Amino acid sequence: MLARTDIIATNPRNPDRCMKIRPFETEQFFARYEFTTPYQLCNSDCEPLSIAELLELANLPPDHLGRERLGYTEPRGRLALRQAVAALHSRVTPDDVMLLGTPVEGIYLAARALLDPGDEVVVLSPAYDALVNLFEHVVGADRVHRWRFRAERGSWSLPFAELERLVSPATRLLVVNFPHNPTGFLPSPALQRRIVDLVEQAGIWLFSDEMYHGLVHSDTPPIPSAADLTTRAVVLSGLSKTYGLPGLRCGWLLARDPALRERLMNWKYYTSICPPAPTEVLGLAALQVAGAIRQRNIARIEDNLETAEAFFERWPQRFDWRRPLAGSTALVGFDVPSVSELSRRLATEEGVLIQSAAMLGGNDRQMRIGLGRDGFAPALARFEAWLRRGG
Ligand SMILES: Cc1ncc(COP(=O)(O)O)c(C=O)c1O
Repeated sequence: MLARTDIIATNPRNPDRCMKIRPFETEQFFARYEFTTPYQLCNSDCEPLSIAELLELANLPPDHLGRERLGYTEPRGRLALRQAVAALHSRVTPDDVMLLGTPVEGIYLAARALLDPGDEVVVLSPAYDALVNLFEHVVGADRVHRWRFRAERGSWSLPFAELERLVSPATRLLVVNFPHNPTGFLPSPALQRRIVDLVEQAGIWLFSDEMYHGLVHSDTPPIPSAADLTTRAVVLSGLSKTYGLPGLRCGWLLARDPALRERLMNWKYYTSICPPAPTEVLGLAALQVAGAIRQRNIARIEDNLETAEAFFERWPQRFDWRRPLAGSTALVGFDVPSVSELSRRLATEEGVLIQSAAMLGGNDRQMRIGLGRDGFAPALARFEAWLRRGG
């Protein structure tokens, strides 16, 4: 595991080249605790389906997967799957879709294909680690500027004037993620339009991480995919979050610009070449029943949100709660000196997993909670029992 002191963001002999990459703290944390801690309060995905449940839901026979030959697959992804992804959009064609080896790979490919030495990047903060660290790795930490969420009373906001201030003539890329992990923020359609207009006027690229697309709570106005609004967008999406199938490792990039697609593909030949055949078969099955899976996941999140709100009403002195608008996560202030330190203790002593927002670029007195899992209410009850004992 890399220590913070190992990080040299920029090679001093050649400042345009970045040598190291920061520790991927979220994934290191989950690798350490996810498979050994029974009560989990911080997962970003939704409750997964089994292969049998998925095939049954899609009305496919149990041996459907068994019929697939395990040869190489088409590098961009098989046509039927690209058609199914394009059908989720209004302006995207199957040619614009590129299936990946895994969703997170798409962030790396975009960083490589979009950026040159000297380019600057503006990225939302806090954010999923890879959305910051991979861009820092490619252009250097000093060239990645953070567009920070602002904590309002009971909600989060994104000050647009701040984005205008951060974009300079050297800016090449704006990185956003809506619905947002961890705040659960979703911009209004008007704010999304302003962001797209700025991208087009500045002639920069928009990397739009839409891994949680469509997970919109019932009283929030939905927004379209950025790929349906502008050819300057590169969109990352997949089946891990909204569809609760992270074990499939099914993700895709959308790019309507043909030259950019070629550059992305060239990088992909070095990282995964083509999507795994079983992933394509099951991914296609999932997309055939996408609406049904998504609705189940939204219903579960809304149930868990009720449980969460009742909990936070009981503990107003300990937590600073802002109800999320979309997605499966929320960012909550917690009245302890260090959530990082506490999370390790809670995991080993109580079997309860909470995650510090410090590893996402937030602060260590905030935690991310995950609302997409069946086990949320029992995990919260266990956490509350610990609080009642004076935790
Ligand atoms: C915003 C965001 N983007 C990308 C990813 C990567 O998805 P996957 O883990 O399925 O590769 C995640 C995973 O947590 C995420 O939260």
